[in-house]
Amino acid sequence: MSKYNFMVHQKISIAFDEYDSVDQLSGEDAALLIEAQKAIAIAYAPYSKFRVGAAALLQNGKTLLGSNQENASYPVGMCAERVLLSTASSLFPGIPIKAIAISYRNELGESIKPISPCGICRQTLVEYESMLKYPIRLILAGMEGKIVVLPNAGTLLPFGFSGKDLQ
Ligand code: THU
Repeated sequence: MSKYNFMVHQKISIAFDEYDSVDQLSGEDAALLIEAQKAIAIAYAPYSKFRVGAAALLQNGKTLLGSNQENASYPVGMCAERVLLSTASSLFPGIPIKAIAISYRNELGESIKPISPCGICRQTLVEYESMLKYPIRLILAGMEGKIVVLPNAGTLLPFGFSGKDLQ
């Protein structure tokens, strides 16, 4: 009898949808992705040259934009996702965020595959999902190529730390 008999092997898997082009998305998702791509123009990314745009669709029908905002002191810079979430929560406190689209243009390379939010942004997205009690659908894409759609942000942060752990 091995000492491992009391161990339970657990597994977490995630589900997402993958599309070949924007025309395959629902009208609402396609429109939001186009807004995120427009938001790339308002990125301030003189250091990385990696311009990120994000757009949120709120439950009240408003669409808000965010973009990365860098700083000469590099860690001070803010990702597009957190700029957008702070904007949404400041302008429309308590209004659920139905979906966020994220796109980018890498001025030093290609922009042909989706990027997904960094660890700090995942933690922030999950905080707003739980505060607003509403899943945030994520639409991730470059300027062309495949598009990934996730049903909620929590999917990207299995085993995350949350307010529940502080109780
Ligand atoms: N960045 C974002 O804005 N969102 C992401 O999902 C990944 C990275 C920004 C941070 C920094 O300004 C630049 O992209 C390069 O890391």
